[in-house]
Amino acid sequence: MQGYVTNTMMRRASVRRFQARPVEPALVERLVRFGQQAPFTGQMYSFLATVDGTKRERLTDVFGTLVQRAPVFMLVLVDFNKLDKFIAYRSRANRVDDLSLLFLGIQDASYAAENLVLAAEEAGLGTCFLGAAPFVARELVEIFKLPRRVYPLVGLVLGYPEERPAARPRIPVEHCLFWDEYHELGEKEVAEAMEVMDASLIREGYYAKYNAKIPVEGTEDRVTLDEYGWSEHVSRKYGERSRDDSQLVQMLREQGINLDGGCKT
Ligand SMILES: Cc1cc2nc3c(=O)[nH]c(=O)nc-3n(C[C@H](O)[C@H](O)[C@H](O)COP(=O)(O)O)c2cc1C
Repeated sequence: MQGYVTNTMMRRASVRRFQARPVEPALVERLVRFGQQAPFTGQMYSFLATVDGTKRERLTDVFGTLVQRAPVFMLVLVDFNKLDKFIAYRSRANRVDDLSLLFLGIQDASYAAENLVLAAEEAGLGTCFLGAAPFVARELVEIFKLPRRVYPLVGLVLGYPEERPAARPRIPVEHCLFWDEYHELGEKEVAEAMEVMDASLIREGYYAKYNAKIPVEGTEDRVTLDEYGWSEHVSRKYGERSRDDSQLVQMLREQGINLDGGCKT
């Protein structure tokens, strides 16, 4: 099986170098429309787009220099503000607790965002998600005037690519699809999966090219760039720095999203 959609999926790779060439607002609108056609439970999302130089400069402080190098920045929002209005249209109030809603809202927003990304790929554009958004919500609320019940899920840069990276590896599908019951990966299978990931990304010079090696804290870094692959990266990414959720819960609360059950504010 091979067709237009699957070819686009398998060819896509995150792009981090862009031409200065602008992207027409009409094209951005088309892409969002394709994004919207994803499955949804309540359309609890919005997309915010900007090409504004001053805004993108401020966003560079928040997300890093990739924002400056891309002509369009988009923010994918989980939007309960809009949902609450849709519910009120037929004279009801939202009675679902926010943690349940958040699971659903993140799904709605994610499927739409990925649809948009695939449409962008087909249109000859490059994209890269920026995952810091939920953790810098206060700045984003201010920059984009986000109302209560709206929360940033992920950033996305968009533009005509200056680079065309080959598709990047994934762990073998048999370590990802289990038939009939869950299969615990053994040591050998984990090693196999990590070898596949490491070999390809080291060959690409991925972490060197994007200056994306995560420093180790407190000790000498013994892993050279020729040895630094995904296995080392994922281990450092989640195993070096701790992240305390209390700030996130507080920022959600400031946006009128309460994860501790009970009624909404
Ligand atoms: C939720 C999410 C957050 C991400 N955040 C970043 C980011 O902050 N910076 C970045 O350069 N890439 C980011 N990426 C892109 C991933 O690094 C990339 O998708 C992954 O390494 C696989 O590579 P590929 O997209 O080229 O196949 C993010 C991707 C996702 C899905």
